[in-house]
Amino acid sequence: MKSIKKAVFPVAGLGTRFLPATKANPKEMLPIVDKPLIQYAAEEAVASGAEVLIFIVGRSKRAIADHFDKAVELEIGLEASGKQQLLEIVREILPPHVACVYIRQSEALGLGHAVLCARPVVGNDPFAVVLADDLINASEQGCLAQMVDVYNEHQRSVLGIERVPHETVNRYGIVDSIPINERLSTINSIVEKPAVGTVSSNAAVVGRYILTPKIFEFLEKIERGAGNEIQLTDAIAKLLESESVFAYEFAGKRFDCGNKLGYLKATVEFALQHPEVKKEFKAYLENTFS
Ligand code: UTP
Repeated sequence: MKSIKKAVFPVAGLGTRFLPATKANPKEMLPIVDKPLIQYAAEEAVASGAEVLIFIVGRSKRAIADHFDKAVELEIGLEASGKQQLLEIVREILPPHVACVYIRQSEALGLGHAVLCARPVVGNDPFAVVLADDLINASEQGCLAQMVDVYNEHQRSVLGIERVPHETVNRYGIVDSIPINERLSTINSIVEKPAVGTVSSNAAVVGRYILTPKIFEFLEKIERGAGNEIQLTDAIAKLLESESVFAYEFAGKRFDCGNKLGYLKATVEFALQHPEVKKEFKAYLENTFS
């Protein structure tokens, strides 16, 4: 039985909804309080058992590689000034058994294409895909760890699902599925960004996937789809014809940090949980807005 040791992070999108902040920096480096989105995503993957983190990077790749690399000068400076706690934060961004690999996606041709770029490193193993701009606050077990449990039981692809308002289905991949239990179902069909009113389901695929390596066979062949991009959803639709794919409604709250409103909501909720600022921030909100 193969477990999920590799996680792919597509971070080569243009992030146009966050310009000008994303002109020279990937949106996955935007911080929620004091941690960049990509670090939350990496921590979630490591907590689920991932040991190889594969970043699919675009033209502004340096910031992400630097973030996960050793910062020798910074460490020397913090050590010299006795800032032990900060030194530990900087040193412990990832545990030592975790390796990072960076692959360049030379053109942002779509999420499906970004995932295909990971093939030389993923090989014939099942793997996770994590979109860092979907930030998921799960109280006990992280979203990906919950999905790995499902994978371990069924040995088939698993997509993270959230129920969304029907008038927003045109922003997501939408699945139609047959329930197995309260959270798990078997997918019948999947469609990328359907027009509102054309589907009865409101089960939206969010940025967490566990995929069998068979997906690469379909990613290689599919043409450009919605938005003129090579869509992961279209390859999953093909995968469905040869093996079962599961939909899993995870426990946790998702914030779409790829848009401004979702990003602001995440910032407020994470600040209200942050040990250093939560008390004063709560008082500030109450005094200012009550
Ligand atoms: P989005 O659909 O959010 O697109 O990508 P985007 O380009 O990042 O942002 P906007 O819409 O212009 O504001 C979903 C995820 O897929 C990655 C992105 O980095 C993001 O994590 N992606 C998308 C790639 O890595 N490569 C691509 O070609 C497209």
